[in-house]
Amino acid sequence: MPEIHWDSQLYNEQHRFVSNYGADVLQWLDAKAGEHILDVGCGTGDLAAKIQEAGATVSGVDASADMVELAKREYPTIQFEQKDAAALDYNREFDAVFSNATFHWIENQRGLLRGIYKSLKHGGRLVAEFGGKGNIKSIIDAIETAAKQLGLEHRVISNFWFFPSISHYATLLEASGFETEQMWLFDRPTQLVGEDGMQKWINQFAQHAFVNLNEEEATAVTSLAIEILKPTYFKDGQWTADYRRLRIKAIKK
Ligand code: BEZ
Repeated sequence: MPEIHWDSQLYNEQHRFVSNYGADVLQWLDAKAGEHILDVGCGTGDLAAKIQEAGATVSGVDASADMVELAKREYPTIQFEQKDAAALDYNREFDAVFSNATFHWIENQRGLLRGIYKSLKHGGRLVAEFGGKGNIKSIIDAIETAAKQLGLEHRVISNFWFFPSISHYATLLEASGFETEQMWLFDRPTQLVGEDGMQKWINQFAQHAFVNLNEEEATAVTSLAIEILKPTYFKDGQWTADYRRLRIKAIKK
């Protein structure tokens, strides 16, 4: 996973849409009373709380201590723990594993799926949604173009996320012992909050791109990328990001 500082306050105020959109994928999870469900990459805990409302017992894990602390404060009846998603150490404890907007951050996908498989009871389900092939392509392209125009392309890491196709991810799931039940790849244009929405998005989510730059260079690349994106993605005072989701449901056989 790239080195990212998760500012839970900024995330909560500016990027709450992550949980809001995530409510849709909960329909695929269809949590039942009495089930034990693991939320991998629980972030601020909002979706774990929704799963709990269905009567299930939820455990939430997140790599960020800051996020876990906020989730614990907001939802004290749910158990949250700081854990690396690619090194889960559960053993057949869960009826389902759920995850929203997390898998694209994880480099070690085999480790992730191995741990999830082991966490599930026999017949248990994995329901997850994350960035799929083509996700935020315009933002990645704009950062690359800006870096090139400023002569910084060799020091900018423009695409460090994992955005797989349906066939790629089905292969990974099946190699890990899962049976793929359903998979969708779909566009989900995502509105960002405020006139500085794209700048805040880049500052929060793409900071790893600039680890080899000084502050002035990072600001210059960000500003130019925003200029490149503006004619297409800023309309009527509102920024939109070109999100594409991969939504999956797979069963432990
Ligand atoms: C996403 O949810 O698709 C996403 C969020 C931040 C960075 C990259 C992708």
